[in-house]
Amino acid sequence: MMPAESSVLGRRQFLGTCTGAIAGAALTGCASVMARPVTAIDGRISLALADHPELAAQNGAITILPSGTSDPIIVLRTGDQSYAALSAVCTHRGCTVEVAGDRLECPCHGSQYNREGTVLEGPAERALGRFTTTLDGARLIIDLGRGR
Ligand code: FES
Repeated sequence: MMPAESSVLGRRQFLGTCTGAIAGAALTGCASVMARPVTAIDGRISLALADHPELAAQNGAITILPSGTSDPIIVLRTGDQSYAALSAVCTHRGCTVEVAGDRLECPCHGSQYNREGTVLEGPAERALGRFTTTLDGARLIIDLGRGR
């Protein structure tokens, strides 16, 4: 049961809907918002890239859920040695956006963003929040304190 295009469905409500739906039947839209829990320490996440093989693929992406928050983050490989970490919270009304090919799409009202978080299609008007990332050897560090 995907939210209707015209519905006003909050992110938490949508996630709750997905949780119930997954218990009854698999839904691709909901399954794609399943986020991997990760531990944040002192406002930083340290991801071992070897533990997330999707990020080794060109245009790979994963969705993570840092401890202490209900706001998922989408981590995307953007180049050979570059990554982006974007808030998955749609800037329109707060639904959780999903990776869809080379874009990020919001299932609630259809906003689309590119892999840098820039709005490609509304109704959202503002870019997704972006967190500073640093590659430290085989680990990707995401600084949660410097979202913009
Ligand atoms: S919440 Fe409306 S487009 Fe995302």
